Amino acid sequence: MNNNHFYVTTPIYYVNDKPHIGHSYTTILADVLARGHRLLDEPTYFLTGTDEHGLKVQQAAQKNNTTPLEHCNRTVIRFQELWQKLEITNDYFIRTTEERHERVVQEILTDLYNKDLIYSADYEGWYCIPCERFFTEKDLQDGCCPDCHRKVESLIEKNYFFKMSQFQKPLIDYIESHPNFIQPAHRRQETLGFLQKPLSDLCISRPKSRLSWGIDLPFDDQYVTYVWFDALVNYISAVGYKTDEEQFRRWWPASYHLIGKDILTTHTVYWPTMLMALGLELPKAIFAHGWWLSQGSKVSKTAMAEMTAAAKPANPMDMVDRYGVDALRYYLMAAMSLGQDTEFSEDAFILKFNSDLANDLGNLTSRAVKMLEKNFAGKLPPASEPGDEETALVAACQNAVKAMQNGIENMQLDRGIADVIAAVREGNRYFDLQKPWTLVKEGNIEKLGRVLRNTAECLRIVSGLLYPVMPGKMSELRRILGIRQDQLVPVMKNLGKWNILPDGAELHPLEAPLFPRIETAKAKFDESVKAAAKPVPAPAPVLPNVIGIEDFAKVSLKTAEIISAEKVEGADKLLKLQVRTGSEERQIVAGIAKYYAPEDLPGKTIVIVANLKPRELRGLTSHGMLLAAKTADQLTLITTDKPIPSGASVG
Ligand code: ME8
Ligand code: MG
Repeated sequence: MNNNHFYVTTPIYYVNDKPHIGHSYTTILADVLARGHRLLDEPTYFLTGTDEHGLKVQQAAQKNNTTPLEHCNRTVIRFQELWQKLEITNDYFIRTTEERHERVVQEILTDLYNKDLIYSADYEGWYCIPCERFFTEKDLQDGCCPDCHRKVESLIEKNYFFKMSQFQKPLIDYIESHPNFIQPAHRRQETLGFLQKPLSDLCISRPKSRLSWGIDLPFDDQYVTYVWFDALVNYISAVGYKTDEEQFRRWWPASYHLIGKDILTTHTVYWPTMLMALGLELPKAIFAHGWWLSQGSKVSKTAMAEMTAAAKPANPMDMVDRYGVDALRYYLMAAMSLGQDTEFSEDAFILKFNSDLANDLGNLTSRAVKMLEKNFAGKLPPASEPGDEETALVAACQNAVKAMQNGIENMQLDRGIADVIAAVREGNRYFDLQKPWTLVKEGNIEKLGRVLRNTAECLRIVSGLLYPVMPGKMSELRRILGIRQDQLVPVMKNLGKWNILPDGAELHPLEAPLFPRIETAKAKFDESVKAAAKPVPAPAPVLPNVIGIEDFAKVSLKTAEIISAEKVEGADKLLKLQVRTGSEERQIVAGIAKYYAPEDLPGKTIVIVANLKPRELRGLTSHGMLLAAKTADQLTLITTDKPIPSGASVG
């Protein structure tokens, strides 16, 4: 077992596809996790690569008048160059055409053939050429491929089969006794559902007459193996299975196979049964994330070919050229809730960039650094014990450290990132409350130093936490904060501590904003609208995270009348409210004390989420959540426009 090792893989992508946002996402996700685990000081191995055999490659080579291998050699570069540009730190790039991999596949086939787990039989079925998969009559949907919905062909031929059916029961038992094996939980349910039907054996061969671009079967030279029995093996051939026992023992079983939900069955059924047949341990976890969508459809090569120019999502290379690699990495990681589908659009990207990076993080950096340059000659003022005024700031930073560590260890990166940005917002709030510009005027240099020093500590922690996501920009930020060149890579255990920056450290001048706001025609339009303050039709809304009505319908929103409100002892942000919803009364604890005095609240009709699971806050039960509109420094409750009884449904 390799409990303290982290081995993460991406799917190996079809080599003749043009890499798009979807491939970039999985690879960046793996990279952020790998970088995160390296920060946690765990030996880490990160594998990606390309899937190079199969009919599509053979056909594309023919069309281009070249050999399949030559075709692969040309197209693989698109992936390798993109990964370089995206600062992907994979330890190895496997190609299924490499000699070592082909040999391992053949040895595996020989072993399974000798164990009687591979046999030959006539096969009659429906074949989908683009997916390279056989289907039975009842798998088909309206006579078409259930996956890609294209036409299938009827075929009868002799083929070789892997006795997958034999492993159905052990696989179900394994999934049931290992709740984290397939993640997230709804994908585990999907696989268990699939396994309720009898599992058939897996056709693993193609006659050479039809497909020659595969790996020769060692026991029949008229046949090759193709796609899945070839591709899945990459996860073990790359780490030395059958060729380097020591390396293999070190890394296998993998910690995480990251995949998109499109290849769930192959990874959670075919692959584990293959490993069981070989007597190998199963990977510790398979995580299937959702899809990036463009105008509601999955981003894919085929879909993109049919899209209008306006609907086509930007190509990752262009995004990097236009906005920088860190911005793209940040957006992809922060905007998708792990496990769910998310709409990709450049507008949503710009909104998120301008709000989180330009306004929140970039702004806090330039505010603090400029004042340090002006009032302290660019040298860091001395550390002091955080006091009451720093409580919220220190707590937000500590929470961010915990959330990010949990995000890296338990696949909740998007939530970790959100909590880091919450700490940045708390930094801005601290700055606003402490009013350092007034301290300058008053000549209160000691307090000014304390405020700027604490802001710099907040920025140090944030720069460390976001380093796996934005290695370039966060190194830059760390350099600005006066961190030595040899310490630019953060040490996780220092991130939970305050006052780590050395007193008197020499800051690096901030020559240009860290994240200059992206000005677009639309952003300018919005500003001109604001300036003119005239009602103008709003531009079409941008939907960064589209959900269906069925998801929205799960949330029960209701009007509630506030009956009473009081402060919570020992928690200066919280108010305890008693509210009435129709005939029912309940208690809600809300972080609104900075914005509302308790005596101003009774009588107001607000909107609450009525079906939220009750939770404990400072020992008090909060039963529901109230809705409020927020910016970095403002908050206003959502109330009703006209009088309406409490308990009315909102939606
Ligand atoms: O399936 N959103 O390769 P592939 C999110 N060779 N992720 C996406 C995506 C989207 N719209 N589109 C693609 C294959 N992906 C096989 C795999 S593994 C042993 C063999 C990502 O080129 C996602 O990770 O079709 C998905 O599973 C993968 O690309 C499919 O890549
Ligand atoms: Mg695919």
